Amino acid sequence: MQSKHIKPRSDALVFFGAAGDLAYKKIFPALQAMACRGGMDFPVIGVARSGTDLNQLLARAKASVTEYGGLDPAGFQVLASRLRCVSGDYGDPSTFEKLKAELGTARRPVHYLAIPPSLFANVVSQLHRSGCTQNARVVIEKPFGRDLESARELNRVLREVFPEEDIFRIDHYLGKEAVQNILYFRFANAFLEPILNRHYVENVQITMAENFGIKGRGKFYDETGIIRDVIQNHLLQVVSYLAMEPPSSTYAEAIRDEQAKVLRTVRPMDNDNMVRGQFRGYLDEPGVAKNSFMGTYAALRLWVDSWRWEGVPFFVRAGKSLAKTVTEVTIQFKQSPQVVFSEATPGVGNYVRFRLSPVVAIALGARAKRPGEGMSGVPVELSVVDGGRNGSAKPMDAYERLLGDAIAGDTTLFARQDVVDAAWAIVDPVIHSHSSLYPYEPGTWGPAEADRLVSGVGGWKNPVD
Ligand code: BG6
Repeated sequence: MQSKHIKPRSDALVFFGAAGDLAYKKIFPALQAMACRGGMDFPVIGVARSGTDLNQLLARAKASVTEYGGLDPAGFQVLASRLRCVSGDYGDPSTFEKLKAELGTARRPVHYLAIPPSLFANVVSQLHRSGCTQNARVVIEKPFGRDLESARELNRVLREVFPEEDIFRIDHYLGKEAVQNILYFRFANAFLEPILNRHYVENVQITMAENFGIKGRGKFYDETGIIRDVIQNHLLQVVSYLAMEPPSSTYAEAIRDEQAKVLRTVRPMDNDNMVRGQFRGYLDEPGVAKNSFMGTYAALRLWVDSWRWEGVPFFVRAGKSLAKTVTEVTIQFKQSPQVVFSEATPGVGNYVRFRLSPVVAIALGARAKRPGEGMSGVPVELSVVDGGRNGSAKPMDAYERLLGDAIAGDTTLFARQDVVDAAWAIVDPVIHSHSSLYPYEPGTWGPAEADRLVSGVGGWKNPVD
């Protein structure tokens, strides 16, 4: 996004966890893409645990880009020429002295902590002690804590060293083109905004389905569960973009202000408004406790107690091992009065649909006249798929986008602490309570018990192709 206040660009990117999984799957491919676009005018310093040297790091970077997206010889060459390596123990001050030396004349580094949250506090204080935090920015990955209290504690640790404007909390959903498009489509088109409120909208549904399980992440997942993994962060960010008021265009923090404001109006969850599930077979996954009570599926009915949305349910559901991999938002409008064409089928047509992945699509669902003598209708969709790009530039991957924004000092697409706090406050009551857990078969849409949440609105809208 374009920040109204130009901030100085960072002049070095340091990333901790350079030999780790995230670097392999996301960071090296994003860096190569950045180099291809000509945006890499700074050194990139990978920090890895003892025993990794530059040649090993280069080999890993090459394997990473080859596996994730493809090797671009010219782009990779630029990345390779920029890449440096510092290795050592994260608890050892000499690692940070080496880093300081490697930073050389750089005055405004970005430190990206692509490492487990349990290491954040130590790395931040070592960076500080070694003099690497002056004019620096810090990028951290979700999860931002395990609940409201631990999120605040993590923030306290970061704020001892960095001001809020230099803290970049990555929620990669915010870096996705399709998610930004919700915001753009809402506020760039005059026809939608007047009807996006309690007078016209019947309900909003957000489905994030994945047709795979926990992919060997048993230990992580069994400490996390679906609500902490994707609902508290990714899906509540989507809710905030759908429900927020128009941001003022004159202030750099306008969008995040509106996100925080609207999330504070969402009623804290309770068990009556939630159904949790666990796919059959989860307990046999390595790293998962045999008697685990962790949910791999959750469906929530949220109430946004604002002037605009009072009484309109927002249904949010997410799950692993479901019928397909797809993320979609449907805004269902109320039916027109059934007095002219009494055949109109309630719930068919009359919606706006945002497909967020795997393809990007925006569709308007309507009813049109069926050709012929009678006055009966058929549901039709006016849709734009993949932004109607027609061969224009490949969209930026979320990580490339977000790393570029962090270098530029633009915080718009990062989670601000008050937004994170407001999202935790919504789910805190249910992650600390003991709600029922229903089993479901892999390859389905989750436990049938979740249907009770949507019985008043004609059921779940399962995304179709
Ligand atoms: C991550 C979660 O944050 O998001 C994963 O930890 C999830 O469990 C992933 O699969 C989904 O993101 P994307 O971009 O692949 O849809």
